[in-house]
Amino acid sequence: MLNSNDENSFLIDKEKDITSQYLTQGYYIGPVADKGALSWIHNSFLHIVKEELNIIDEDNAEPILDFVHQKISIPELNNFRLNVIKKINQLPDFRKKYFQIAKPYLDMLVGNELAMQVKVNLSIQCPDDDSSLLPTHADTWSGDSPFEVVVWVPLVNCYKTKSMYILPPDENEKLNKNFTSMAGAHSEDLYQSIKDKVDWINIDYGNVMLFNNSLPHGNRVNMESETRWSMNCRFKGIFSPYWDKKLGSFFEPITLRAASSSGMNYKLPELS
Ligand SMILES: [Fe+2]
Repeated sequence: MLNSNDENSFLIDKEKDITSQYLTQGYYIGPVADKGALSWIHNSFLHIVKEELNIIDEDNAEPILDFVHQKISIPELNNFRLNVIKKINQLPDFRKKYFQIAKPYLDMLVGNELAMQVKVNLSIQCPDDDSSLLPTHADTWSGDSPFEVVVWVPLVNCYKTKSMYILPPDENEKLNKNFTSMAGAHSEDLYQSIKDKVDWINIDYGNVMLFNNSLPHGNRVNMESETRWSMNCRFKGIFSPYWDKKLGSFFEPITLRAASSSGMNYKLPELS
Protein backbone atom coordinates (compact mmCIF):
# COMPACT_ATOMS: atom_id res chain seq x y z
CA MET A 1 0.00 0.00 0.00
CA LEU A 2 1.20 3.51 -0.77
CA ASN A 3 1.69 5.30 2.52
CA SER A 4 2.52 8.94 3.13
CA ASN A 5 3.92 8.09 6.55
CA ASP A 6 6.78 5.74 5.69
CA GLU A 7 10.39 6.28 6.74
CA ASN A 8 11.33 7.98 3.47
CA SER A 9 8.69 10.69 3.96
CA PHE A 10 9.96 14.24 4.42
CA LEU A 11 6.86 15.21 6.41
CA ILE A 12 7.70 16.87 9.74
CA ASP A 13 6.64 15.25 13.03
CA LYS A 14 3.42 17.28 13.39
CA GLU A 15 2.38 16.38 9.84
CA LYS A 16 3.21 12.72 10.48
CA ASP A 17 1.08 12.73 13.63
CA ILE A 18 -1.96 14.27 11.90
CA THR A 19 -1.45 12.03 8.86
CA SER A 20 -1.30 8.96 11.06
CA GLN A 21 -4.51 9.89 12.91
CA TYR A 22 -6.31 10.50 9.60
CA LEU A 23 -5.15 7.21 8.10
CA THR A 24 -5.85 5.01 11.13
CA GLN A 25 -9.11 6.61 12.38
CA GLY A 26 -10.41 7.89 9.06
CA TYR A 27 -10.63 11.40 10.48
CA TYR A 28 -8.70 14.12 12.27
CA ILE A 29 -10.17 16.56 14.81
CA GLY A 30 -8.32 19.72 15.86
CA PRO A 31 -9.02 23.24 17.07
CA VAL A 32 -10.13 25.61 14.31
CA ALA A 33 -7.17 27.39 12.76
CA ASP A 34 -8.90 30.78 12.70
CA LYS A 35 -11.20 31.52 15.65
CA GLY A 36 -12.19 34.88 14.15
CA ALA A 37 -13.39 33.17 10.97
CA LEU A 38 -15.50 30.70 12.99
CA SER A 39 -17.02 33.52 15.06
CA TRP A 40 -17.85 35.42 11.88
CA ILE A 41 -19.64 32.35 10.50
CA HIS A 42 -21.41 31.64 13.81
CA ASN A 43 -22.62 35.25 14.12
CA SER A 44 -23.76 35.22 10.48
CA PHE A 45 -25.82 32.10 11.20
CA LEU A 46 -27.38 33.65 14.31
CA HIS A 47 -28.28 36.77 12.36
CA ILE A 48 -29.91 34.77 9.53
CA VAL A 49 -31.72 32.38 11.91
CA LYS A 50 -33.18 35.28 13.91
CA GLU A 51 -34.29 36.92 10.67
CA GLU A 52 -35.94 33.69 9.46
CA LEU A 53 -37.69 33.09 12.79
CA ASN A 54 -38.59 36.75 13.39
CA ILE A 55 -36.68 36.84 16.66
CA ILE A 56 -36.07 40.47 17.61
CA ASP A 57 -33.92 39.91 20.68
CA GLU A 58 -30.32 40.97 20.07
CA ASP A 59 -28.72 38.82 22.76
CA ASN A 60 -26.39 36.37 21.02
CA ALA A 61 -25.66 34.52 24.26
CA GLU A 62 -29.00 32.70 24.08
CA PRO A 63 -28.39 29.19 22.71
CA ILE A 64 -30.80 29.59 19.80
CA LEU A 65 -29.17 26.92 17.66
CA ASP A 66 -29.21 24.12 20.27
CA PHE A 67 -32.86 24.82 21.03
CA VAL A 68 -34.17 25.79 17.60
CA HIS A 69 -36.58 22.81 17.78
CA GLN A 70 -38.58 24.83 20.33
CA LYS A 71 -39.19 27.47 17.67
CA ILE A 72 -39.79 25.43 14.53
CA SER A 73 -41.83 22.34 13.64
CA ILE A 74 -40.40 19.32 11.82
CA PRO A 75 -42.52 19.88 8.64
CA GLU A 76 -41.10 23.44 8.42
CA LEU A 77 -37.55 22.32 9.05
CA ASN A 78 -36.29 21.50 5.55
CA ASN A 79 -37.49 24.77 4.01
CA PHE A 80 -36.00 26.66 6.91
CA ARG A 81 -32.68 24.82 6.46
CA LEU A 82 -32.64 25.53 2.72
CA ASN A 83 -33.33 29.24 3.29
CA VAL A 84 -30.58 29.51 5.90
CA ILE A 85 -27.95 27.76 3.78
CA LYS A 86 -28.89 29.76 0.70
CA LYS A 87 -28.47 33.02 2.59
CA ILE A 88 -25.16 32.02 4.18
CA ASN A 89 -23.73 30.86 0.84
CA GLN A 90 -24.65 34.27 -0.61
CA LEU A 91 -22.33 36.08 1.82
CA PRO A 92 -19.26 36.95 -0.30
CA ASP A 93 -16.64 36.03 2.35
CA PHE A 94 -18.31 32.85 3.62
CA ARG A 95 -16.36 30.20 1.67
CA LYS A 96 -13.06 31.97 2.30
CA LYS A 97 -13.72 32.04 6.05
CA TYR A 98 -14.74 28.36 5.91
CA PHE A 99 -11.45 27.51 4.22
CA GLN A 100 -9.44 29.51 6.80
CA ILE A 101 -10.92 27.40 9.59
CA ALA A 102 -9.21 24.29 8.22
CA LYS A 103 -6.36 25.64 6.06
CA PRO A 104 -3.28 24.24 7.90
CA TYR A 105 -4.91 20.80 8.22
CA LEU A 106 -5.84 20.80 4.53
CA ASP A 107 -2.25 21.76 3.70
CA MET A 108 -1.03 18.75 5.67
CA LEU A 109 -3.60 16.18 4.55
CA VAL A 110 -4.41 17.25 0.99
CA GLY A 111 -1.87 19.78 -0.26
CA ASN A 112 -1.65 23.47 -0.98
CA GLU A 113 -3.25 23.55 -4.43
CA LEU A 114 -6.88 23.00 -3.58
CA ALA A 115 -10.30 22.80 -5.17
CA MET A 116 -13.29 23.52 -2.91
CA GLN A 117 -16.91 22.47 -3.32
CA VAL A 118 -18.91 25.41 -4.69
CA LYS A 119 -21.65 25.16 -2.04
CA VAL A 120 -21.21 24.47 1.67
CA ASN A 121 -23.90 22.12 3.07
CA LEU A 122 -25.79 22.43 6.34
CA SER A 123 -27.28 19.72 8.57
CA ILE A 124 -29.87 20.48 11.25
CA GLN A 125 -30.82 17.46 13.33
CA CYS A 126 -33.62 18.10 15.81
CA PRO A 127 -34.23 15.71 18.75
CA ASP A 128 -36.42 12.71 17.78
CA ASP A 129 -36.63 13.82 14.13
CA ASP A 130 -36.53 10.83 11.78
CA SER A 131 -37.29 12.89 8.65
CA SER A 132 -33.77 14.05 7.80
CA LEU A 133 -31.54 11.06 8.40
CA LEU A 134 -28.51 10.07 6.36
CA PRO A 135 -28.43 6.27 6.04
CA THR A 136 -25.04 4.56 6.09
CA HIS A 137 -23.17 5.47 2.90
CA ALA A 138 -19.75 6.30 1.52
CA ASP A 139 -19.69 9.32 -0.80
CA THR A 140 -17.59 7.29 -3.26
CA TRP A 141 -20.59 4.95 -3.77
CA SER A 142 -22.39 7.83 -5.49
CA GLY A 143 -19.69 9.42 -7.60
CA ASP A 144 -17.38 11.30 -5.26
CA SER A 145 -13.67 10.82 -5.83
CA PRO A 146 -11.74 8.97 -3.08
CA PHE A 147 -9.22 11.83 -3.24
CA GLU A 148 -11.69 14.16 -1.52
CA VAL A 149 -11.66 15.20 2.14
CA VAL A 150 -14.74 16.48 3.95
CA VAL A 151 -14.27 19.47 6.25
CA TRP A 152 -17.02 19.14 8.89
CA VAL A 153 -17.60 22.14 11.16
CA PRO A 154 -20.00 21.94 14.14
CA LEU A 155 -21.89 25.11 15.14
CA VAL A 156 -22.84 23.50 18.49
CA ASN A 157 -21.25 20.83 20.68
CA CYS A 158 -21.86 17.42 19.08
CA TYR A 159 -21.85 14.12 20.98
CA LYS A 160 -23.53 10.70 20.97
CA THR A 161 -26.56 10.63 18.63
CA LYS A 162 -26.43 14.44 18.28
CA SER A 163 -23.39 13.76 16.10
CA MET A 164 -22.45 11.42 13.21
CA TYR A 165 -20.62 8.11 13.00
CA ILE A 166 -17.77 6.84 10.82
CA LEU A 167 -16.59 3.28 10.20
CA PRO A 168 -12.80 3.14 10.80
CA PRO A 169 -10.56 2.04 7.86
CA ASP A 170 -9.67 -1.42 9.27
CA GLU A 171 -13.36 -2.23 9.77
CA ASN A 172 -14.17 -0.83 6.32
CA GLU A 173 -11.67 -3.27 4.83
CA LYS A 174 -13.57 -6.16 6.46
CA LEU A 175 -16.86 -4.74 5.21
CA ASN A 176 -15.55 -4.44 1.64
CA LYS A 177 -14.48 -8.10 1.66
CA ASN A 178 -17.93 -9.29 2.85
CA PHE A 179 -20.01 -6.52 1.38
CA THR A 180 -22.87 -8.53 -0.11
CA SER A 181 -23.63 -10.44 3.07
CA MET A 182 -23.08 -7.49 5.43
CA ALA A 183 -24.95 -4.88 3.37
CA GLY A 184 -28.13 -6.99 3.08
CA ALA A 185 -31.12 -5.70 1.15
CA HIS A 186 -31.68 -2.37 2.94
CA SER A 187 -29.41 0.37 4.27
CA GLU A 188 -30.65 -0.48 7.76
CA ASP A 189 -29.22 -4.02 7.35
CA LEU A 190 -25.84 -2.46 6.62
CA TYR A 191 -26.03 -0.25 9.71
CA GLN A 192 -27.02 -3.20 11.90
CA SER A 193 -23.96 -5.15 10.73
CA ILE A 194 -21.50 -2.33 11.52
CA LYS A 195 -23.16 -0.53 14.45
CA ASP A 196 -20.79 -2.00 17.06
CA LYS A 197 -17.74 -1.03 14.98
CA VAL A 198 -18.47 2.61 14.14
CA ASP A 199 -16.92 5.62 15.91
CA TRP A 200 -19.39 8.23 17.16
CA ILE A 201 -17.74 11.61 16.78
CA ASN A 202 -17.43 13.75 19.91
CA ILE A 203 -16.59 17.27 18.86
CA ASP A 204 -17.20 20.59 20.56
CA TYR A 205 -17.87 23.93 18.92
CA GLY A 206 -14.48 25.52 18.21
CA ASN A 207 -13.06 22.37 16.60
CA VAL A 208 -13.06 21.11 13.05
CA MET A 209 -13.06 17.55 11.69
CA LEU A 210 -11.54 16.43 8.40
CA PHE A 211 -12.80 12.99 7.39
CA ASN A 212 -12.34 10.47 4.64
CA ASN A 213 -15.63 10.37 2.71
CA SER A 214 -14.83 6.98 1.20
CA LEU A 215 -15.50 5.45 4.64
CA PRO A 216 -19.11 4.53 5.48
CA HIS A 217 -20.75 7.22 7.65
CA GLY A 218 -24.18 8.58 8.55
CA ASN A 219 -26.37 9.51 11.48
CA ARG A 220 -29.29 8.14 13.51
CA VAL A 221 -32.28 9.76 15.17
CA ASN A 222 -30.94 12.39 17.56
CA MET A 223 -31.87 11.07 21.01
CA GLU A 224 -30.24 13.95 22.90
CA SER A 225 -32.19 17.02 24.05
CA GLU A 226 -30.44 19.55 21.77
CA THR A 227 -30.41 20.16 18.02
CA ARG A 228 -27.30 19.46 15.97
CA TRP A 229 -26.06 22.14 13.57
CA SER A 230 -23.08 21.22 11.40
CA MET A 231 -21.67 22.32 8.05
CA ASN A 232 -19.78 20.17 5.59
CA CYS A 233 -17.81 20.91 2.47
CA ARG A 234 -15.49 18.83 0.28
CA PHE A 235 -11.92 19.73 -0.69
CA LYS A 236 -9.42 17.95 -2.96
CA GLY A 237 -6.17 18.58 -4.76
CA ILE A 238 -6.86 20.50 -7.98
CA PHE A 239 -4.93 17.90 -10.01
CA SER A 240 -6.01 14.71 -8.20
CA PRO A 241 -8.49 12.47 -10.08
CA TYR A 242 -12.13 13.57 -10.36
CA TRP A 243 -15.06 11.14 -10.55
CA ASP A 244 -18.60 12.45 -11.17
CA LYS A 245 -18.19 15.73 -9.28
CA LYS A 246 -16.26 17.87 -11.72
CA LEU A 247 -14.02 20.92 -11.59
CA GLY A 248 -15.96 23.94 -12.81
CA SER A 249 -19.41 22.72 -11.77
CA PHE A 250 -19.08 21.06 -8.36
CA PHE A 251 -15.54 22.15 -7.42
CA GLU A 252 -13.72 25.45 -7.90
CA PRO A 253 -9.94 25.99 -7.68
CA ILE A 254 -9.16 28.19 -4.67
CA THR A 255 -5.36 28.12 -4.31
CA LEU A 256 -3.81 27.61 -7.74
CA ARG A 257 -0.05 28.22 -7.60
CA ALA A 258 2.19 30.09 -10.04
CA ALA A 259 3.93 27.07 -11.58
CA SER A 260 0.60 25.37 -12.34
CA SER A 261 -0.90 28.52 -13.77
CA SER A 262 2.17 29.06 -15.88
CA GLY A 263 2.26 25.41 -16.95
CA MET A 264 -1.40 25.34 -17.95
CA ASN A 265 -0.94 28.43 -20.12
CA TYR A 266 2.33 27.24 -21.68
CA LYS A 267 2.57 27.02 -25.44
CA LEU A 268 5.54 25.70 -27.38
CA PRO A 269 7.04 28.14 -29.88
CA GLU A 270 5.30 28.19 -33.25
CA LEU A 271 7.52 26.97 -36.05
CA SER A 272 6.96 28.53 -39.43
FE1 LIG B 1 -21.65 11.64 3.05
